[in-house]
Amino acid sequence: MHNAKIIGTGHYVPENIVTNDDMAKIIETSDEWISTRTGIKERRISTGENTSDMAAKAALKAIEDAKISVEDIDFIFLATYSPDAFIPNTACIVQSLIGAVNATCFDLSAACTGFIYGLDMATQYIKTGRAKCVLVIGAETQSKLLNWDDRGTCVLFGDGAGAAIMTTGEEAGVLACYSGSDGTKSWTLTVEGVPVRNPFVEGNPGSMYDLQNSTIKMDGKEIFKFAVGIMIKSVDELLKISGLNIEDIKYVVPHQANYRIIESTAKRLGLDIGKFFINIDRYGNTSAASVAIALDELAKSGNLEKGDKVLMVGFGGGLTYGGVIVEW
Ligand code: ACO
Repeated sequence: MHNAKIIGTGHYVPENIVTNDDMAKIIETSDEWISTRTGIKERRISTGENTSDMAAKAALKAIEDAKISVEDIDFIFLATYSPDAFIPNTACIVQSLIGAVNATCFDLSAACTGFIYGLDMATQYIKTGRAKCVLVIGAETQSKLLNWDDRGTCVLFGDGAGAAIMTTGEEAGVLACYSGSDGTKSWTLTVEGVPVRNPFVEGNPGSMYDLQNSTIKMDGKEIFKFAVGIMIKSVDELLKISGLNIEDIKYVVPHQANYRIIESTAKRLGLDIGKFFINIDRYGNTSAASVAIALDELAKSGNLEKGDKVLMVGFGGGLTYGGVIVEW
C-alpha cells in the first residue's frame, strides 16, 4: 500500500462581491438577520463564469502550488451539484481547459460533502496504486440554481471552486477517511431533475417540464439538527480510525454552512472555536467548494507547519457526511 498526501491546493472565487446590504435590495432581508442567523456577511456571485471556468482556475493554482506538470495528472475527480451540463461531465471540460491530457475524468455528486468524498476516493486510488496523481476539485455555481425570490435560501449560498493535488508520498499524508449517507433525509435539500418524459408515459406530463424550475429547496431547521450531531460523529470516527486524540488536531476545517452550526459543534466537542478555520463571513456556503477553499486559505495563511494534523469534516444534501484527517 502507498501513502496518499496532498501536495498542493488552490482556489478561485468570482470577483463580484454581493454583500448582505446588496441582498436587501433584491429581497426583504437585512444584514442583521443574515449575520446573526448564519455569520455570512457577503458572498461571491458569478457574472457569467460557469462551474468549469472556476474549477479550471482553482486547478491551475493547485498545480502551480504542487509544482507538478499538468501531464502528471492521471485522474480528475470533480465534485459538484451544479455542473455545466449533463454531458459532458464538468471534469472533462476542465481537462480540456487545463490540458490534462493523461487524465481520466468524472464528476461526483455529494453536494457539500463532495470534496471530502473526492479526497477519500483519491486516497483509495493512490493507496492501491491505481493512481499516481489526482486532481480533486470542489466547484459550484449555485447562483444558477437559487430561487432569488426565496429569502430563506438565496442569502445562504455562494459560487466558487477549490482544488487539491494528491500524490503518493514517502511520509504519511492522509491518516483517516470516514464517510456516510442517509438517504431517508434526502427530502431536506433538493434540486429537482428532469422527470421521466417520453411518448410511453401516459399523457407524457414531463414534456411540459421547464428546467428553469429546478431551484434549491431546503428545510433549514431539519438540516441544522442533523448537522451538529453528524459533524461530531464524523470527528469521533476519524479519531478512532487514526488513533489520534482531539488534542492532536491543530485545525478543524469544517463545511461552511452556518457559523452557528460550527460554533455548536466546537462547543459540544469541547474545542476552542479558534481551532476551526472559518471563512463563511466572506463566501457564504459554497457547497462542494467550501472545504476546498477553506483548506487552501488555511494552507496559504502561513499558520500550517509540516507535521500539523488537519481534520476536514462536512455534511450536505443527500444527506451525505464525512471527513478526512491529513498530516501536513
Ligand atoms: N431575512 C429575513 N428574514 C428571514 C430570512 C431572511 N433572509 N429568511 C427567513 N426569514 C424569516 C422567516 O420567514 C421566518 O419568519 P416568520 O417567523 O415570520 O415565519 C423567520 O425568519 C425564521 O425563519 P427560520 O427558517 O425558522 O429561521 P432559522 O432560525 O431556522 O434559520 C437557517 C434559518 C439560517 C437557514 C438555519 O435553519 C440553518 O442554517 N439551517 C442549516 C442550513 C444548512 O446547513 N444548509 C445547507 C446544508 S447542505 C448544503 O450545504 C448544500
